[in-house]
Amino acid sequence: MLNNLQQQPADALLALIKLHNADPREDKIDLGVGVYRTDTGATPVFASVKAAEKLLLDTQDSKAYLGPEGDMGFVHALMPYVFGAANPSFDGRIDGMQAPGGTGAVRLAVALAKKAGVTAIHMGTPSWPNHAQIAADVGVAIKGFNHATKAGVADMDALRATIAAAEATDAIMLHGCCHNPTGIDYTEAEWDEIAALIAAKGILPILDLAYQGLGKGMEEDAYGVRRVLAAVPEALIAYSCDKNFGYYRDRVGALYVLTESAAETAKVLSNGAGLARAAWSMPPDHGGAVVRLILSDAELTASWLGELDDMRARMNEVRAKLGSAGVQGSVDFAPFGTQNGLFSIVPLNGEQVLAMREKHGVYMAGSGRINVAGLTMGNIDKFIAAVADVTA
Ligand code: LMR
Repeated sequence: MLNNLQQQPADALLALIKLHNADPREDKIDLGVGVYRTDTGATPVFASVKAAEKLLLDTQDSKAYLGPEGDMGFVHALMPYVFGAANPSFDGRIDGMQAPGGTGAVRLAVALAKKAGVTAIHMGTPSWPNHAQIAADVGVAIKGFNHATKAGVADMDALRATIAAAEATDAIMLHGCCHNPTGIDYTEAEWDEIAALIAAKGILPILDLAYQGLGKGMEEDAYGVRRVLAAVPEALIAYSCDKNFGYYRDRVGALYVLTESAAETAKVLSNGAGLARAAWSMPPDHGGAVVRLILSDAELTASWLGELDDMRARMNEVRAKLGSAGVQGSVDFAPFGTQNGLFSIVPLNGEQVLAMREKHGVYMAGSGRINVAGLTMGNIDKFIAAVADVTA
C-alpha cells in the first residue's frame, strides 16, 4: 500500500536551511526562512521569554491535559494587543483558541471556513506559499489576484476587482501587516476602503497576522485587522507568536473568531475545537503559557515590548541602508527602504537566485524573497555587490 506514494520534494524554503548549514563558506549569508537575526546573525531567545520560562518552571505544578482550545489565559491575554485595549472582545463578539503556531491557526481558519460552506478563497499573489498549500490540502479552491503593482504599491484595482467578482461562498485572505513575501502593505486609507468593500460584498475575511510589531509598531500593525473587524459581521483571524515572541520552533499561535454575537462565536469555536481534536487534539502548552506569563506581568511586558522595538529599529536601519543603495546592476534598491517587516522581493530570475547562492553564498527563496533581518552592517555591502554582479 505505502509504495503507492511518490517521493515528494522537500519544502523549498525549509530545504534552504539545510543547504545553508552545509555551505562551508565563512562569509555565506542566510536570507532564507523568516527568522529575526541580530547584527551578529544570531536568533537569541528573548530575555523576557527566558525570564518567564524560569517562572513557568518554578510555578507550573501540572502537565495534565487542558483541552483542544489550549491555554485560554494566553488566548485572552493577547486580545488587547490584537483587537485594541478599549474593547478587546468587541463586546463579546470575539473569542479564540490556541493553535500550534500561525500555521495551525491558518489551517483551522481554512478548515472552519470550508466546514461553514466556503468553496474558494481569494488570495493575493504572491503570498506565503503555505497559504495555497493549506487551502489545497483542506480542499478549498484559490482565486488569485495580483497583490502589488510594478510601482511597488498594493494593486488596489486588482483587489477591488476580485472583491467585486466574489461569490457568496468565497472568502478573502489578507495579510494583516508585513506582507510575506513582498513587504508591501496596504496604507491606512486603503484598509479603510478594503473594510468597506468586504463589508458591502458580504464575503468572509480571513486575516493572517503573523508579524505584529515587526512593521511599524504593535498598534500600527493592527490597524487593518481592527478596521476590517469593525466593518464586518464575521471574520477569522490567524495569529502567530513565532516572530514577535521569537517562539518559532515552539509553535505558538491562536485562532480568533468574530461573529455577530457571543453565542454565535462560541458555536463556531465549538467547531474549531472539534477540528483541533481530530488533527492535533490540543496545542503544545509551553510557549502559550510563557506568553501568558509575560503579558500578565507589567515588567516582563515592558521588557518584551522593548525587545520588539529593538528588532524593529535594527530592521529599519538595514532597510534604510538598502534603500539608499540606488540602482545596482538592474535592481533599484529604493523600494526596500520603504517596505515593511522581514521580507522584500528582489526582482531576480531563477538563474540569478542560483548564482547568488552558488557564486556568492547568498541564500534566498526561489521567488527572490529576502529576509531583510539576515542582513547586517557587516554583510550588506557584499549582498548589494552580489545583486549587482548577477544582474549586470
Ligand atoms: C517564512 O515565510 O519564512 C516563515 O513564515 C516561516 C515558514 O514557516 O515558512
